[in-house]
Amino acid sequence: MPAILEARDLVKRYPVGPRAVDALRGVSLTVDEGEFVAIMGTSGSGKSTMLHLLGGLDRPTSGEVVIDGVNISRLDDEQATLTRRAKTGFVFQFFNLIPLLTVAENVALPFVIAGESWAQHRARVDELLEMVGLAEKAAHRPDQLSAGEQQRVALARALATEPAILLADEPTGNLDYTTGTEILDLLWDSSERLGQTIVLVTHAAHAAAYADRVLVVQDGAILDEIALGRRRDHEARPLIARLAALGL
Ligand SMILES: Nc1ncnc2c1ncn2[C@@H]1O[C@H](COP(=O)(O)OP(=O)(O)O)[C@@H](O)[C@H]1O
Ligand SMILES: [Mg+2]
Repeated sequence: MPAILEARDLVKRYPVGPRAVDALRGVSLTVDEGEFVAIMGTSGSGKSTMLHLLGGLDRPTSGEVVIDGVNISRLDDEQATLTRRAKTGFVFQFFNLIPLLTVAENVALPFVIAGESWAQHRARVDELLEMVGLAEKAAHRPDQLSAGEQQRVALARALATEPAILLADEPTGNLDYTTGTEILDLLWDSSERLGQTIVLVTHAAHAAAYADRVLVVQDGAILDEIALGRRRDHEARPLIARLAALGL
């Protein structure tokens, strides 16, 4: 399978006053088309930094990111932004919905940002809301939805333009276990049915267990890689055993 996402020796140093934090210390990785990869690590290990760089939301101090054949590190800010919008969809821990827009308008946002009319994409928005089980809530505002429903809206929005890569940063981190599982099941469905490439950041083994492959991140570096293969049961125990063998 061809690589759809590639990171080469990513370093990220945040200046903090007179000192600096080395959030990433040379991360290289490849994600194949259609692969579901989890990035797992404790709080502060550099997961969000890594995801932001992989999706072009931020730039590395050094190193390169190639998304679907485009080396975004060599683009100016405007071109990088256009590439990011065209090729990636993001889901965040705190949903990041626009409170004044309806559910349907939130899902249509990527089209509006791309300068297209929302009416033009009505059928696509309906299809996305159907997919996440929220067809009846199209006219609601985000604050009229449960947390799990809000995250389903965010997922529908992230998938709206059929991005090459879906990047999710702790998408279940603000949800209870059962509601979180519903989101993970939807991610899995998009992987299985649409062949969606997914990079999921999580600190939870039960979430990472949905992935084909788990990258374990510690202190800004990839400590190890655990190949789980494609499994339908999402059973976390094999992953937990492998993590324990690594002393984690
Ligand atoms: N904007 C920033 N400025 C300074 N330090 C940051 C910034 N963002 C993250 N960091 C630091 O970089 C490290 C990695 O952070 P982060 O990528 O958010 O980790 P994770 O998502 O795994 O919790 C942490 O030490 C964090 O404090
Ligand atoms: Mg984080």
